[in-house]
Amino acid sequence: MVKFTYYGHSCFLLDDGKYKVLTDPFLTGNPKAAIRAEEVDCDFLLISHAHSDHLGDAPEIAGRTGAELVAIPEVLALCDARVRGLKSHPMNLGGSLTLPFGKVRMTLAQHSSGVAGGVACGFVLYIGGQKVYFAGDTALFSDMQLIGRKDDLDVALLPVGDNYTMGLEDGALAAQYLNARHVIPMHYNTWPLINQDVKHYKELTEQMTRAEVHLLSPGESLVLDGE
Ligand code: NI
Ligand code: MN
Repeated sequence: MVKFTYYGHSCFLLDDGKYKVLTDPFLTGNPKAAIRAEEVDCDFLLISHAHSDHLGDAPEIAGRTGAELVAIPEVLALCDARVRGLKSHPMNLGGSLTLPFGKVRMTLAQHSSGVAGGVACGFVLYIGGQKVYFAGDTALFSDMQLIGRKDDLDVALLPVGDNYTMGLEDGALAAQYLNARHVIPMHYNTWPLINQDVKHYKELTEQMTRAEVHLLSPGESLVLDGE
């Protein structure tokens, strides 16, 4: 079982009942954030890249909660410069790491990193009997097919806001490449520039794939059981 709670933009809390994993915690300054950085609780924090709408409040949340950071070394160095002594797991593209809740694999993303020498990434998480792909910020790329071929994905969390990432049509093609059972779009409607008609995304993607698309408003949760 995994409970997915959407806090807005690209920030999700994945809770397997024992461990809580938070992604890209952009809460302070996010007009749509469903929780304050001072209130969020987690054990692990996954950061896809250093842009402020992803790195966000990560160092301060980790400092307050003791959560362990998972990111590339260049992003971790930025976190360390803000809050000293954080627990962290440096990774790089293609690598896997086993954490108490399950395995994490760092995947490619096609996006700038926001830090010199860095790369943007995504993650595949094995948690609560579910295989979950968190894409971070990315363009559509055909190697998403490899991610879907390697792992029979239960859930894909995909950016669809356009301008900075994939838009609706590329996001639907991404869902087709990944072949996940469930898709949750993210990284839209935070600001006018990335406003999107995600109901259209749901229709398009459900026509093109086997996926069920779940539209979560900030603050909403979805529970998926292992199948
Ligand atoms: Ni970005
Ligand atoms: Mn972004």
